[in-house]
This record gives sequence, structure tokens and C-alpha cells, in this order.
Amino acid sequence: CGIVGYIGHREAYPIIIKGLQRLEYRGYDSAGIALYDGTQIKLSKTKGKVSDLKNKLEADITTNGTLGIGHTRWATHGVPNDVNSHPHYSNSGDLVIIHNGIIENYESLKKELVKRGYTFKSDTDTEVLVNLIEDVKKHENIKLGKAVQIALNQVVGAYAIAVFDKNKPNEIVVARLGSPLAIGIGDDEFFIASDASPFIEYTKNAIYLEDEEMAIIRRGKNVKVRKIKDDSLVDPYVQELQLNLEQIEKGGFDHFMLKEIYEQPSAILDTFRGRLLTNEAIIKMVGVEDNMKKFLAANRIIIVACGTSWHAGLVAEYIFEDLARIPVEVEYASEFRYRNPVITENDVVIAISQSGETADTLAAIKLAKSKGAFVFGVCNVVGSSIARESHAGAYTHAGPEIGVASTKAFTTQITVLTLMALRLARAKGTISSSEFRHHLIELETIPRKVEEALSSDAYVQTVADIYKNATNFLYLGRGYNFPVALEGALKLKEISYIHAEGYPAAEMKHGPIALIDEHMPVVVIATKKGHYEKVVSNIQEIKSRKGKIIGIVTKGDESVKALADHVIEVPETLECLTPLLTTIPLQLLSYHIAVMLGKNVDQPRNLAKSVTVE
Ligand code: G6P
Repeated sequence: CGIVGYIGHREAYPIIIKGLQRLEYRGYDSAGIALYDGTQIKLSKTKGKVSDLKNKLEADITTNGTLGIGHTRWATHGVPNDVNSHPHYSNSGDLVIIHNGIIENYESLKKELVKRGYTFKSDTDTEVLVNLIEDVKKHENIKLGKAVQIALNQVVGAYAIAVFDKNKPNEIVVARLGSPLAIGIGDDEFFIASDASPFIEYTKNAIYLEDEEMAIIRRGKNVKVRKIKDDSLVDPYVQELQLNLEQIEKGGFDHFMLKEIYEQPSAILDTFRGRLLTNEAIIKMVGVEDNMKKFLAANRIIIVACGTSWHAGLVAEYIFEDLARIPVEVEYASEFRYRNPVITENDVVIAISQSGETADTLAAIKLAKSKGAFVFGVCNVVGSSIARESHAGAYTHAGPEIGVASTKAFTTQITVLTLMALRLARAKGTISSSEFRHHLIELETIPRKVEEALSSDAYVQTVADIYKNATNFLYLGRGYNFPVALEGALKLKEISYIHAEGYPAAEMKHGPIALIDEHMPVVVIATKKGHYEKVVSNIQEIKSRKGKIIGIVTKGDESVKALADHVIEVPETLECLTPLLTTIPLQLLSYHIAVMLGKNVDQPRNLAKSVTVE
């Protein structure tokens, strides 16, 4: 979910609506807003997107007021409908709250409150929380801030909340545990949001609350930050933001996803910046250099991640083992954290996360830390929870990724991990200095080659048009391109809702081959290096079962061309770098199919970009 709030001298409504639209990547099942106009709270909410809210609101209520809070939801408790949307009132109607996260013990708290006469309109855990706050406030006859603090100490779960009291309309109380919350500090005005994008045009100064911190924000005055546990005052760090407005807008593209696909050459260059020094034959990564001893002493590397980031982890497994000869395990963070894993002080854990906020990944690294492992974060969002929780790390520097389906985050994650593998390989002496140099030179050409891979766009569109009505797709790859096959299938599933499976090409014969008939498009990654002949044999097997073959091949390839129904070319490069190129046509294929099917590419149903609940 995404939350936004404003208190100051401007009209809150336009700031909140625009802010919610920027945060829609965090969820878009339903949206709502509460404004205080000087005499009363005006609240409106609806199932659907922020644009639906806007239409409803402008018909429903007047939208003036200089204090307000808004929410865009990714449903956890209760189906997405108008009633379950946020904000939620307390029973008296005095308090109003927005919440991102999950209150795990909401049932027992609710039972208590019901006993005391509270009633509930929605199925949400959030309505329980706001009534708990109200109950504490009334019972103890205390101010809102204190009541929030006492209530939160009874809560188990995760939250970023903003709450205000209509009888005290000069303050908003916010708190965070596990879900992000930023406070923008303007001139006599304050902004609240899940990330800084809603207020970037108003101020460059922000406080990021830490876990278990709350803040009381007073109109025209100040922000007081306190620890929720013991009420002690915190001296907050006011950070200067680097983000700019242009980075979070579409810049002439129809969708963020397409813009982000096309940004990959420059995003990869940004990932290289200051790190890849080809002339000097050096890779410089501060987080790696400073902790070289830990990496060199590591028994193994455990990679934890979710979704697309997990696929980047799989690519990294190949490259770390291949070049640096370090054993690697790649784990879904959600499995790892709950299966009592064996972790020792000699393990290095690499957590990969675009957002740096994924709850499962965050929990996995906390677990690893508690067992004494060294944790290295690979995140895109600067200052995110995972970045802060890790002992050291390397940012991908891809710039904000807004499209829910991850594209440039994936290729830049692979880029960072490749740089790391090469640096460690050199330090360990598992590759020679000339091999090392050769890799650097090749790596440097990747942005240009990605550009070239993008030039297949028009042809990919033709292929998309032919297969857009297929109900199943199979994606096959071997070696370094097996994870790419998984990622290609995931992209298609996510945004076009066509069922797709990624498989190691050689495993096809042990099962999926049964699915192949003349209706089944099979995307086969068959680049020149990396088991090429074997993949060609796999293609033969598909052809004999009349499957439709879309080959992703090295430029100039003839053998696959002779067999396949379509081939999409990518430039030649070293085997370990091929994922950075073969991924591109697969991103474009899923994009075009989804657009042709009329799907909402940037905001696919049921998904959210940043999943801050487990
Ligand atoms: C969500 C997104 C995926 C993403 C995954 C992990 O499910 O929809 O695109 O890969 O979370 O996110 P992270 O921010 O940790 O990379």
C-alpha cells in the first residue's frame, strides 16, 4: 500500500491525489482520502484506482482543506471494496487513519474491543487499530500521540500509519515498523509518504523514520520523533534527496515499463559508473573492498530474494561459481526465513531487492544477521530498509522503477553481481589477469549491445501479434540463460495473464514436452555460446512435436533460423554476459502482447511493486 499526507498552508487535495498516483505502484485495489476543511472531516474512498477516486470525489464532496491523508491499497485483510478501503474512522468519528502493513494480532484485539462495545464496519485490521487508539486515548484521557504510542506497543505486525484527530486539527501522528515512511520538511508545511516521490517538487529535505519510531507533526511548527518502545526523543537525520521529477515521469513513452526497458543502456552505464575502470583494469566497489576478508573467507554465498530479484540471484549463482569458484545457494527469502536454515558466521548472505522493502527479504536478512552471517545488500532504492539493515552493499543505481513488472532493475542487479563476481574472482586468482581484462572490455560494450538488442523491437511486435492469443507459453534456456527463461515466463504471466512456464531446456523431455502441440509457442534461448548444439537438439525435439519456435539467437545464426518459426537476434558477447542481452527481447515480447490484449501494463491486476507484507 501507499500512504500520503499533508499539513501546511496549501490545499492538501491536489498534493495527495498526485502523490497517490505516484505511489500506485505499491498497490491499486482501492483508494481513499480524508481532508479536514477547518470544521469537519471529509472522507471518500472507493474500490479501484486513484483515478476512480478522483472522479468519485469531485462529484461527491468539496475538496478544500489544508490537512489531509490518502491511501492506495493492496488488499491483505478483506476484499478490495469501498468499505475496506482506507482511511478508516474510529467509532466516535473523531480519529481517522491510513495504514500500510498488517496487524497480526488484530483478532484478539478486536475481541477485546467488541467486549467494550466497539463495532466494526470493515473486515480490516486497520479499523481495529484506530479503535484501539481511540480506546486508549479515552480510557487514559491522554493526547493522540501518547495514545498511538501505547496502542502500538500492544500491536504485533508491521505498519506505517498516519492518524489525526478532528478535534486537534493541527497535528498528524505517524509511526513506522517494517513499512517505509518518509516525512518531507517544507517551509511551514510537512508531507508524509511511503517514499519521497509525492513531495519531490515541494522539498528536497526528508526524514526517513526508522523502525519503531513515531513522529508528531505540528502545523507550522515542528516534527518530534520518538521511540515507540520507551518514548525517548530521537534527533532525526534530515536527508537531502537526490531524486528529481523527470525521473518519475513517463517522458514520452506510453508506459513506464517501455520507458524503463529503453532506459537499460543508460541504467547499466550508471551501474558501472566509478566501478568499472577498464583502462586501469580495475573494478572498484567500496562495499566489496571494505569487506574483502569476509568474502574471501566465505564458505559459501547464500543469495536471498523474491520475484524477479530471485531470478537475478540465479544468474549470479552461475557467474559466482563459474568465475570466482565460490559455492552459491539461491533461496526464496520467504522459504529461507521459515525453514530453520543452517547459517554460520562464515556465510555471506547477499540480499537482492529492487525496492529494498520486500518484507520477506528483510526478515531473511535479519535472521541471517542474528546467526552471525555477513549480509551484503544489492538494492535499487537508496536508503531503503534492506540497504540500511545490511552490513554493506552496492546500489544498482537504475533510477526509480515504476512499472510493476521489473525490467531495468533486473539487468542492473545482474550487472552489479557480475562486477562483484569478477572482482572476487580476481582477488581469489580464479581468473587470470588477461581473462579479467577481457571480461571488463566486454562488459563495457554491454550498454551499446543492449541498445542493439532493443532495435529488434519492431520485429518482436510482429511476433507478439502472431502469438498474442495463445493460452500457454513455454520458455526454455540452458546454463546462464535458464534463469532468463524463468524471467521471460514471469514477465509474460505478470502483465498479460497468459500462463507461461520457464524450464531448463534439457528438462523439457522429462515433462513439459507432453504439452507441446501445434498451438504451443516455445521461446528458446539459443545463443552461440553455452551448450548451443544441445539447445539445437532440444529445438529439434519441439519441432517434431509441431510446437511453434521463437528462437532468441546470436546475430548471424543460421542453424536455428533453419528450424525455428521466428528468430530474434541479439549481439554476440561472452557467455556469462548473455543474460543481459537475451532478457531484452523477452521483456519486449511480454510488453507488446500485454498492450495488444489491452491489459494495464504498468499496473497488472493483483500485483504490487513493493510487497511490504509477508
Ligand atoms: C513484487 C514485484 C516483483 C518483484 C518482487 C521483489 O512481487 O511485483 O516485480 O520482483 O516483488 O521485489 P524487490 O523490490 O524485493 O526486488
